[in-house]
Amino acid sequence: MQTILILDHGSQYTQLIARKIREANVYCEIHPFNKIPKITDEIKGVVLSGSPYSVIDPEAPKTDLSAFKGKLPVLGICYGSQYMVHISGGKVEKSTIREYGRAKLEKVNNDCLLMRGVKEDSQVWMSHGDTILSMPEDFEIICSTHDVKNAGYKIKGEETYALQFHPEVTHSEFGFQILKNFVTEICHCDCSWTPKSFVETTVQALKEQLKDDKVVLGLSGGVDSSVAAVLLHRAIGSNLHCIFVDNGLLRKNEFSSVLESYKGMGLNVTGVDAKEDFYSVLAGVTEPEKKRKAIGAKFIDIFDREAGKIKDVKWLGQGTIYPDVIESSSVKGPSQTIKSHHNVGGLPDYMKLKVVEPLRSLFKDEVRRVGKELGLKQELLSRHPFPGPGLAIRILGDITAEKVSILQEVDAIFIDSLKEKGLYDQVWQAGAILLPIQSVGVMGDERTYERVVALRAVQSVDGMTADWCHLPYEFLSDVSNKIINQVKGVNRVCYDISSKPPATIEWE
Ligand code: XMP
Repeated sequence: MQTILILDHGSQYTQLIARKIREANVYCEIHPFNKIPKITDEIKGVVLSGSPYSVIDPEAPKTDLSAFKGKLPVLGICYGSQYMVHISGGKVEKSTIREYGRAKLEKVNNDCLLMRGVKEDSQVWMSHGDTILSMPEDFEIICSTHDVKNAGYKIKGEETYALQFHPEVTHSEFGFQILKNFVTEICHCDCSWTPKSFVETTVQALKEQLKDDKVVLGLSGGVDSSVAAVLLHRAIGSNLHCIFVDNGLLRKNEFSSVLESYKGMGLNVTGVDAKEDFYSVLAGVTEPEKKRKAIGAKFIDIFDREAGKIKDVKWLGQGTIYPDVIESSSVKGPSQTIKSHHNVGGLPDYMKLKVVEPLRSLFKDEVRRVGKELGLKQELLSRHPFPGPGLAIRILGDITAEKVSILQEVDAIFIDSLKEKGLYDQVWQAGAILLPIQSVGVMGDERTYERVVALRAVQSVDGMTADWCHLPYEFLSDVSNKIINQVKGVNRVCYDISSKPPATIEWE
């Protein structure tokens, strides 16, 4: 498969480069700069990412370009651009001020294949601390801004290009055009990597890999595990055994409705009612990390028991997606575990199952597109993210069946109202939180002393950062009234207006 290799120097934008190239229907992979894979015929070009380092820093990444530079097309971005100048005898120095933000191109050489169709006067996004002061003779300038003369260059006699600004960022007006020019005009990729082609090649590859073997997969009701299951089902049919566990911490009616829809898709699913098992290990547990660990351990217990009932199962299917893969092999190493996220999977070693992860190379939005291609219902594909430990981390303090039931009612009113008002798809994630306090109220002539709930709705791209949604006041007021009138035991509703950072999306 035609592939563009992206070498990561640790820039916050590296994943964006990959997403943009894939938007052009070209497959690409990110690898750390110090773990360059073998350059096969499939690799049609290489992109060198930006970096938080200055090329002058002693610990700056020193990428060995010898395997591909001059042989394959190369595009250096920001650090990648400065690095090639630096190692070729040009002069790079730390800028006196960090050049950050919007800038305008003043001169553009439209004869250069990379800059085809890019307008002079268009906006680009700068973010760098180094400046290229002088370049070797065989480096030709292909674009400049008012402040940055060497904003882009090409090396004569090679298909090597570089840009000081970030074409992958949407603020660069012709950024996508530039990346498209690189992959099509310069690397000659045929843009045939589409959800349809992904499904065809993946199903074929899974057939060859799994043959007549049985696979067990844990479904969570979320997009990733559902799409992974449908793909595997296409390849091996009833040899795929799915397990869907009701941990008693799902949304209202979620277990039965999701189970029904899985069955409707022809999946071979065992639904396991394990509510009481989870409630009993959670009794009296108040500390968030302890809750997560208890839920994780119990899940493995139950999954293990159920998987053990399937004779001769050889594989464990997982819905791992590309950001998880990159994260675990990134330049900076696996990022610190801020919360010990439990996701479906991770079985005890003694089960000795081999792992199959059909979505390993996809970003979240691509998983959705593949799901659409596979005919999954829009309702399932557009679901908000929901944490593995479910409502347990939205009930502050200890968990009881009664509290779960109250929160389920509150959450259902909030989510249904978002759907009714056409707001659900504009929100990235929403939910309700049950607080461990009671407050005074009046109902009729009576004084009440009841529970307080908080509503949370956020806008985000990947959950790493988030901002609270500015939902209309009238909407919030309606939802609040409905909750207080309909959910017994709740007399106060708050709306969470904190962004992440410094807050997080979940409260625990
Ligand atoms: P935070 O609260 O860390 O959440 O801002 C970021 C995203 O991760 C989800 N989340 C979890 N997902 N297991 C999961 O599978 C967990 O323990 C967990 N904790 C948080 C959260 O819902 C949000 O989408």
